[in-house]
Amino acid sequence: MHPQAAEYAVHPLPEVGAFVALTTQTVPTESDTKQLEAIFAEVEEVQESLIPLLQEIQTRYHYLPEFALRRVAAKLGVPVTDVYQVATFYSCFSLEPVGKHVVQVCLGTACHVRGAPRVLDRMLRDLKLSAPGTTADMQFTVRSVRCVGCCGLAPVVRVDNNTHPNLTQAKVRGMLKKYQSKEARPAESTDEAANAEARINP
Ligand code: FES
Repeated sequence: MHPQAAEYAVHPLPEVGAFVALTTQTVPTESDTKQLEAIFAEVEEVQESLIPLLQEIQTRYHYLPEFALRRVAAKLGVPVTDVYQVATFYSCFSLEPVGKHVVQVCLGTACHVRGAPRVLDRMLRDLKLSAPGTTADMQFTVRSVRCVGCCGLAPVVRVDNNTHPNLTQAKVRGMLKKYQSKEARPAESTDEAANAEARINP
């Protein structure tokens, strides 16, 4: 098991038989093939680097396409089910395309009692989603999570790498607007209090 397992693992390994058709894009384009070869060239000691390879693919595609998992398995000489097991074990990996911005609404106890469910409701309404998921324009993927480690700032929402503390329904639209106008994922938040507490309570 990779040493970062405890940090990333959030759910038990699924049955191998559950891996069928978990991802969407099955055939790589020429550009995809070049990208994968570039990743293999960049990652040192490829044979020992399953997780770094998956991290790099996730960073480039924002998810792990099926063709990439199969290519990684072939490159490492391991069964594709082994690669799927790792890909589904860690919460940092996604087997489905995600939006440009990933929004994590904390529904842990501290956030819940301070109104997080209302914040989530408002967010889903503003993004025209009936439940957490990805918007039709692929701008946002909304997820509910359990405690992001800064309970004193509840209710908390994380967008990409940024922490938004003390969120209310009234602040939701303005917060989303800041991201809707951005082409790339924004840099770390300048909210030092939020980031400091997130570092203290990772
Ligand atoms: S419960 Fe939301 S940050 Fe801890």
